[in-house]
Amino acid sequence: MIKNEVIDSMMNRKSIRKYTEQIPTEEEILTVARAGQQAPFAMQLGSAIIQRNREKNAFNAPIQFIILCDLHRMEKVMKARGWKREASNIHSLLFGIQDAAYMAQNMVTAAESLGMGSCYIGAAPYMSERLRKDCNLPDHVFPLVILAMGFPAEEPPVRPRYPMEFHLFEETYPDLTDEITGYAMQIMDQGYLAQNYYKNAGFIIPLSDKTKEEKYTFDNYSWTEHISRKMAQWSTDPEELLVPLKHCDLSPVE
Ligand SMILES: Cc1cc2nc3c(=O)[nH]c(=O)nc-3n(C[C@H](O)[C@H](O)[C@H](O)COP(=O)(O)O)c2cc1C
Repeated sequence: MIKNEVIDSMMNRKSIRKYTEQIPTEEEILTVARAGQQAPFAMQLGSAIIQRNREKNAFNAPIQFIILCDLHRMEKVMKARGWKREASNIHSLLFGIQDAAYMAQNMVTAAESLGMGSCYIGAAPYMSERLRKDCNLPDHVFPLVILAMGFPAEEPPVRPRYPMEFHLFEETYPDLTDEITGYAMQIMDQGYLAQNYYKNAGFIIPLSDKTKEEKYTFDNYSWTEHISRKMAQWSTDPEELLVPLKHCDLSPVE
């Protein structure tokens, strides 16, 4: 793999969940925001709110950004031009999520280059009613994700990823055999076990079906079981997201 400053910075990045007292300067903050803005965009549908109240911020980070999928701003521009958005909500959301996500990830990379760390918090859409009130969000603005940021007070190891054979496919989608799937799972599970990730976190997702016997301990519970439990047991009701989207007047089915 080729190495250079940019690649090294990306390869060494890890989510940071403990922050020092140091407060990022305004110049650092503006640099991060500008670098975020300069991400590729479909329609500049990403914007952000910065929050500086450590006590309230995720992981008590000195700053956090609420990353917004922002159709309101687009509509202001369109109105000034004498237009009204007729693009469907599902179309607008699909592109808005991309614009906001690429913007946010540019902010992560910029922060990293300035010696800062960051961590996404995916619960924002589920907290959208509170965020709408607290942040005065107008209709057609959807809080996509929270991004906590500051100077790291921990140095966790780089987390594992699937092997390349399970990730980059040549021309067509392959038959994901049990063998390659098993190999990829082993890489992930051994990687997380070697880092004592779940033991250190002290957390195993409980089985919802109480008639099932828990067969895992911190010695063998790892990423593939963890992520499977999340995807099998959590967020099963589409209403959980359709309702917040409706509150933002961005229901994807209208
Ligand atoms: C959309 C999204 C939501 C996330 N939500 C959370 C979260 O709520 N809490 C958390 O501690 N980490 C969260 N993360 C961070 C992931 O857990 C982390 O990126 C992943 O475990 C890989 O670790 P790494 O970033 O250190 O490589 C989130 C990441 C993304 C992209």
